[in-house]
Amino acid sequence: HWHLSDDQGFRIESKKFPRLNEIGSWRMEGEQKVGGYYTQEEIREIVAYAQERFINVIPEIDLPGHTVSIVATFPELSCSGEPLAVAHGSGIFPRILCAGNDKVYDFLYALLEEVCGLFPGPYFHIGGDEAPKSEWEKCPRCQQRIQAEGLKDEEELQAWFTGKLVEFLEAQGKTVIGWNEILTSGTVSPKAIAQYWVETGAEAAAKETEKGRRFVFSPVSSFYLDYPAALVPLKSTYATEPCILKDQPIPKDQVLGLEAPLWTERVTTADHIERLTFPRLLALAENCWTWEKD
Ligand code: ACM
Ligand code: ZN
Repeated sequence: HWHLSDDQGFRIESKKFPRLNEIGSWRMEGEQKVGGYYTQEEIREIVAYAQERFINVIPEIDLPGHTVSIVATFPELSCSGEPLAVAHGSGIFPRILCAGNDKVYDFLYALLEEVCGLFPGPYFHIGGDEAPKSEWEKCPRCQQRIQAEGLKDEEELQAWFTGKLVEFLEAQGKTVIGWNEILTSGTVSPKAIAQYWVETGAEAAAKETEKGRRFVFSPVSSFYLDYPAALVPLKSTYATEPCILKDQPIPKDQVLGLEAPLWTERVTTADHIERLTFPRLLALAENCWTWEKD
């Protein structure tokens, strides 16, 4: 699972939209311009290297939130259209893609088609986490979309937006994965797999387990490797079972697997990666394949 786009940088080369790399791949930190992106040649090399080892690489383009690098490149794809800079520093940023503008879908279909061409595996991750609705609430086009599609609110609009991507990506032969926020409205396509990461989405996610939703399980409190071991201890990585609400395990046939995310924007050396990854990844691996733990 390769998180290739976020507010602070667009990290994959697009030949269709080179401005995404000229603008969206870079940010200012004080006087310094920092950033970069993987070329398509590098991506192909990594995918092939993984494939030789029976590993599928799943690309993630995070949508509709965490898209400041995209709307900094193309402000007309946001609700207000106002110019802005690629984000620096961490956080959740309100400027997201407009779900009411048809041009957004034209852009996304073209971009996702290009990304699909680089990743032959069966899955595509469309993100979906932490998408604030403040812009959509004020946007005439988003409000018009809500009316025209008979949606209840902005959460249902995100589910509708996700449904458009599911439909498009299915036609490309892909199964869609999204972070658990895609479940908030309870109306998202049953075809989408949810990646469970945050406790605040617990109620909505638990309801979806009852409907047969399939999950990848990666709760931040147990599996996030970028957190120091003081916050995400080895024992927790080892012991945590796929369960959202207490005493309500997710049926085994609905759990595709566990994932230990390692967010690397501030991890720049192999040594640092290894200190974060091991030994917790070994605990995660054994947790994945062992029911009787010792
Ligand atoms: C996430 O960690 N925001 C999915
Ligand atoms: Zn809008």
